[in-house]
Amino acid sequence: MSPMVQTRSHIMQKEQPSTKKERVLTGDRATGQLHLGHYVGSLQQRVMLQHDYEQTILVADLQGLTDNGHNPHKVSSNILNVVADYLAVGIDPLKTTICLQSAIPALSELTMYYSNLVSVARLQRNPTVKSEIAGKSFGSSIPAGFLTYPISQAADITAFKATLIPVGEDQLPMIEQTNEIVRKLNHIAQAEVLVECTPLLSKVSRLPSCDGKSKMSKSMGNCILLSDTDKQISKAVKSMYTDPKHLSIEQPGQVEGNIVFTYLDAFHSDSAYIEQLKMRYREGGLGDGKTKKILEECLQDILKPIRERRELLISDKSQLIDILRVGSEKSQEESNQVLNSVKKAFGLNLF
Ligand code: TRP
Repeated sequence: MSPMVQTRSHIMQKEQPSTKKERVLTGDRATGQLHLGHYVGSLQQRVMLQHDYEQTILVADLQGLTDNGHNPHKVSSNILNVVADYLAVGIDPLKTTICLQSAIPALSELTMYYSNLVSVARLQRNPTVKSEIAGKSFGSSIPAGFLTYPISQAADITAFKATLIPVGEDQLPMIEQTNEIVRKLNHIAQAEVLVECTPLLSKVSRLPSCDGKSKMSKSMGNCILLSDTDKQISKAVKSMYTDPKHLSIEQPGQVEGNIVFTYLDAFHSDSAYIEQLKMRYREGGLGDGKTKKILEECLQDILKPIRERRELLISDKSQLIDILRVGSEKSQEESNQVLNSVKKAFGLNLF
C-alpha cells in the first residue's frame, strides 16, 4: 500500500459494496498503540478479510472510556494512533470502513434499548468482565459503563448486521451475550430484526508478552509496538524470557514456554527451519543468543516497513481524521436503519 493514503475525494468515490458479501466487524479500544499481539492476533487477518468481506473496523473510544473515565486523555490521544496503525499494516480505507464509536449516536441509543434485556447478574457472570474486574482496582466503585460494556459491544455488532466477528478467545463471552440479546429482541419483535453472529478465532489468539508472565502492556514495557525503533525491538528481544534452566549453549533447552520460540512460530515464514532449530535447541548446542538473533532479524524485517509507513501517516493527522469521518458517516446511515427497526420492535416508532 502506498503510504500516502488517498485523499478524501478518493474515499468518497468508494464503490458501493455488493450487499451479498458477508459482514465482518472488529474493534479495538483506543487506549494505546497497537502491538505485535494485535498484529498476529487480528490485524493480519483483517488485511486478508477486507478483500472478500464487507469489513468495518470500529475504533472503540467509548469502550476505552469505560475504565478511563477519569483519565480520558488516554483514549483521546490514542484514536489517531490506532488509525495510523491500521493503515500502516495494510488496512485499506477504500476496502474497509474505519469508524469512530463516539461519532455514531445509534450505537449509544441501541445500548440503552438493549440494557433493558440484560440483568446485572448476567453482566457480573460474564467471564471476561469478571476477570477484568478482578484485575483492576475498582474496589466497590465499578463504573456502570464498565459493567455494561458487553451491551455496548452487542450494539456495535448488531448495528452493522455483522455476522462474522474475528476475535481473540477472551472476546467469546461478548459474542455469546450479543447473541442472547439478538434472540431476546427477535422474540419480542416476533421477527428477525437482528442477526446472530459467529466468532472467527485467529490462529494465534493470544501472543504472550516478552516476559512470558503478564498481559502485554506498554507501561509494563513487555510488548513490542508497531512503531518501535530498531533499538527498542532489539532490547525487547534480548530481554525475552527463554528457558531459565538453559545455562550454557551445550545444555539441552526447553522449547515449550520459551517465548523466543513462541514468537518464532508466530512470525517466522519458514516453519521447517524453525522446527530444525527447536530440535537442535532440545538436543543442546544452540544458544539463546543465536535464537534471539534470528528472531530479532525476523521482527526487524516485518516491522521496518510498517514503522516507516506509520511515521508518514501520523505526520498527516488531517488525513487520518478525514478517513475516520468518512467511515463514521457511512456507519451512521447503516446503524440508524437498525436503530429504527429496534425502536419499532419496542413499539416506539410513533414518528
Ligand atoms: N472489546 C474489544 C477489545 O477489547 C473491542 C471492541 C469494541 C469490539 N467493540 C467491538 C470487538 C465489536 C469486536 C466487535 O478489543
